[in-house]
Order: sequence, then structure tokens, then C-alpha cells
Amino acid sequence: MSTQYDVVVIGAGPGGYIAAIRAGQLGMKVACIEGHAYDDPKGEPRLGGTCLNVGCIPSKALLASSEEFEKIQHHAEDHGITVTGAKMDVAKMIKRKDDIVTKMTGGIQYLFKKNKVTAIKGWASFSGKVDGGFELTVKTAAGEEKVTAKQVIVATGSKARHLPGITVDNETICDNEGALKFGAVPKKLGVIGAGVIGLELGSVWRRLGADVTVLEAMPNFLAACDEGVAKEMQKIFTKQGLKMNMGVKIGEVKASKKGVSVAYTDADGNAQKLDCDKLIVSVGRVPNTDGLNLEAVGLKTNERGQIDVDAHCQTLVAGIYAVGDVIRGAMLAHKAEEEGVMVAEIMAGQAGHCNYDTIPWVIYTSPEVAWVGKTEQQLKQDGRKYKAGQFPFMANGRALGQGDSQGFVKVLADATTDEVLGVHIINSHASDLIAEAVMAMEFKASSEDIGRICHAHPSLSEVVKEAALACDKRQLNG
Ligand code: FAD
Ligand code: NAI
Repeated sequence: MSTQYDVVVIGAGPGGYIAAIRAGQLGMKVACIEGHAYDDPKGEPRLGGTCLNVGCIPSKALLASSEEFEKIQHHAEDHGITVTGAKMDVAKMIKRKDDIVTKMTGGIQYLFKKNKVTAIKGWASFSGKVDGGFELTVKTAAGEEKVTAKQVIVATGSKARHLPGITVDNETICDNEGALKFGAVPKKLGVIGAGVIGLELGSVWRRLGADVTVLEAMPNFLAACDEGVAKEMQKIFTKQGLKMNMGVKIGEVKASKKGVSVAYTDADGNAQKLDCDKLIVSVGRVPNTDGLNLEAVGLKTNERGQIDVDAHCQTLVAGIYAVGDVIRGAMLAHKAEEEGVMVAEIMAGQAGHCNYDTIPWVIYTSPEVAWVGKTEQQLKQDGRKYKAGQFPFMANGRALGQGDSQGFVKVLADATTDEVLGVHIINSHASDLIAEAVMAMEFKASSEDIGRICHAHPSLSEVVKEAALACDKRQLNG
């Protein structure tokens, strides 16, 4: 006997659980299958995927705790506050993070009930095509369960990419999962990969006192960022004490009871060695398709391990869609969510839509880096004539008052039409400030439009306005 659904979603990460909720809202009979228990004390599968359990949410909780600690230690004095004997209780910090995760994943259970989504706890695989849909087998704690669905959304996400010869035990050599639950601050921490995870988690443990060395294969820092932003951030991270080694080639990595030894060749070709207590390997992520048995429905993965989809996330098989990290594009929670909503709406006969040109990126370090749209180097490469307006937070009263005066806003606009093509921000509140830029680009605003909008004073958002005005060299306070 198999239970019949209109829609079955495989995976309860941000792509899957949001798709399931939207499908429920639109009146479909929907189930969402999740198999991963993460750190659940009872070993039961938990909802929320990478994002809630071992990604966005726990990393931001640790970033917040470590930032408070750093502010108390190093910046309270600027405000005339003397604090002595500040100490970090790592176990308490980790428990706070775990409690936030538990609360958030529990919240999805509530949302599923509210939107009539059935949560099925187990690992799903395709069994084959059946009359009017697809059959799936779910391996649960109690055995096997069969479900059939008219339409399926594959939202199985991604897992950390590991390097050959480097065994991740999540004790000494860690990917994101181990790096989010160290029992103590390592004296020396090595990080392979100066990407988003390396910088965010490297920053967490540096702020708590670890001596952090980052080993990055690429010669250029943050190659996906606007060059001006990347240059500024490299300076800032180096000043903060992150030891950045670019253009390295990782050699043998040996783990022992005492720690890890990483042999590498530096950018000048010299053999080097890094000894550390713990090592984080953060060299990107790979799509999760293990055990899905895609072949049973006539699907396969491409050379990057992804499931191929069209612009509306439909796979090569009508009725099967895929969203989030398991397909092409940025591996970001909000991108997965947008795709989930789009697909659920398309399934309900609506005009689901996802604008891939206005997906913001944020790196949650201190200061944060946020951007949307094109970088200067992309515009140059495209041969597009543009004008740039840049304004520093140093000239903003609110930023000075908050002790947050690092960084700038850069607005890039078309030289002829003045349409905003990209916005790049370095500031501790960049993740919130970028929303205005995303909105502006969604509505195809010009830099003049932003410059003519009234922004509250004093506020950090005034810097966005000034940068927009600076596109026509008419900034008012600088
Ligand atoms: P996932 O969240 O990976 O969820 C997929 C789920 O499917 C998993 O729970 C998995 O167990 C389940 N699954 C897989 N196969 C099966 C199966 N056969 N049967 C049943 N279930 C299955 N993004 C941001 O936008 N902002 C951030 O700040 C951010 N921070 C991050 C920090 C870290 C440390 C990491 C690792 C990632 C971060 N990300 C961030 C990326 C973000 O977590 C992912 O882009 C997002 O989770 C992708 O969502 P998804 O639904 O596609 O997949
Ligand atoms: P990443 O792709 O951001 O960075 C990986 C880095 O490792 C790159 O700079 C790459 O050049 C380097 N690298 C690759 N192989 C290497 C090797 N052999 N030796 C040395 N360096 C090597 O990947 P990361 O940091 O693992 O994060 C994975 C993904 O998770 C991100 O791309 C992002 O999509 C998502 N994420 C998003 C966050 C956010 O939105 N704030 C936070 C954390 C993760």
C-alpha cells in the first residue's frame, strides 16, 4: 500500500520545506521527506536541512557570540567602558547555538502542521514511474514505506566537499559540521579554503583567541567579489589577525593525537608546513544525490554531480523538479527558497518566477560584505559602459557613533540609462542594507531614483543614497 500525494518533496532544507509549505498553502496534498538526524539527541531526523542544522543559523549564532566577546574585549573601551576579566565559556556558547537550532527546526514542524504538510522521517529513493506519477521508497526507522506523488520536488541539498587523502573525522580535521562544535578554542587553527565558510568560521575562532592560518589555492582573494571590495576585505582580515596564504598547493596532511600537520607549497614554490591543533576543510560543497536512484525515473546527474533543470527548475522528466544546492547556481538558502516557491506555484498552475539577477550575497564577517548584481570586473568583461559611485561609512554620523565606520557602498549604474547594475557594501550591517539595493534592482531603478529617495537621518542607509548620488558626482556629504 502506498500513500498518494499531489506533491512529494525530498529534503527538508530551505528549498524543500519552503516548497512544501507553499504547496500546502496552495491546497495541494503534500509530504516532505527528511532522513538526516544531524545532532538530534534522540537520533530522529530533523527538519531544516544544512541551513538550520549545520549551516546558516548555527554559524550566525557563533558569529554573534564571538563578536560580542571581541567587542567587549577590544571596543568597549572606545565607549569609556572598562571591562576586566571577560571570559568565554565555549560550552555555553555552543549550547546557546544548539538551543537556537532546536527552536528553529521545531518551528518547521509547527509550520508543517499549520500548512497541512505531512513530514515523513526517512531516506527517500525513486522506485519508478507509475500511473499518473512517481513511486518513492522511504527507509524509515520502522522499515520501508511507499509513497506515490503526481509531482516530485528534489531538494536534497549538498554536503561538504572533501579533499583526497584528507580524512575528515570532525574531531581534529573538520568540515562545517565539526567546526561548529569545537569543545574548546584551538590554540592554532588551520583553514583550507578562503571562501565563505573559511572566513566566517575562521573569524569565529580567531575572535575567541585562536591563531588562524588560512591556506587558499587561488592567487586572488574572494575572486567572486568586486575587486575593490576583495582588496579592502583582504586588508581588513589581515589587520584582524587572520593569516592569509594565497596561491598555495596543499600536500600531505597528517593527523596525530597532538594535532594536524599540513604540508603545502606557497605561491613562490617553497615547501612549507603548518602545524595546528585543528584543521577546517572548507573547499566548497557537492550536491547530494546519493541513494536517490534517479535512474529509476530516467534521470541522471551532470558532470558536476548536479541534477539538470531548466529556468523554472523542471528536470528532463515532466513532473519532477529540483531546487536549491542540488542544481546549478549559487548555493544559498534564499536562492533555494525562491526556487521552492516558484516550483510550488508553477505546480498549482500559477506563474512562478525567480529572478536570478537579483540574488544577494552576504559574507557575515565583521564587517559584513554584501552585494547584488554585477561587479566592476564583470561589467568590463561584458564591455558594458558604466559609472561608479562610492561613499565611505567614515563620513556618516551614525556609523561613527556606532563605531562602525569601516567600509563603503559602491553603486554601479549603466553609463547611458543610469539603471543600477550592481551594489557592493562593506559594513557591519551590510546584510540589511543590501535589501534596498535588491529592491531597487528588482524595480529597475536608476542611481538617480535611489539618490532622490528620502533616507532617515542619521542612518547607515544614507551611505547607500550618497553612493548613488556619487554616480553623478553629486554626493552631498563627501
Ligand atoms: P539543504 O539545506 O542541504 O537540505 C537538504 C536536505 O535534504 C538535507 O537535510 C538532507 O539530509 C536531505 N536529504 C538529502 N537526501 C535525502 C534523501 N534521499 N531522502 C531524504 N532526505 C534527504 N546560505 C545562505 O544563504 N546564508 C548563509 O548565511 C549560509 N551560511 C552557511 C553556513 C555554512 C557553514 C554552510 C555549510 C552553508 C551555509 N549556507 C548559507 C548555504 C545554505 O545552507 C544552503 O545553500 C542551503 O541549505 C541549501 O538548501 P537546500 O534546501 O537546497 O539543501
Ligand atoms: P567556497 O566555494 O565559498 O570557497 C571554497 C574556497 O576553497 C575557494 O576559495 C577555493 O578556491 C578554495 N579551494 C578549493 N580547493 C582548494 C584546495 N585544494 N586547496 C586550497 N583551497 C582550495 O566554499 P565554502 O567556503 O566551502 O562554502 C560552500 C558554500 O556554502 C559557499 O559557496 C556558499 O554557497 C555557502 N555558504 C554561504 C554562506 C553565506 O551565504 N554567508 C556562508 C557559508 C557557506
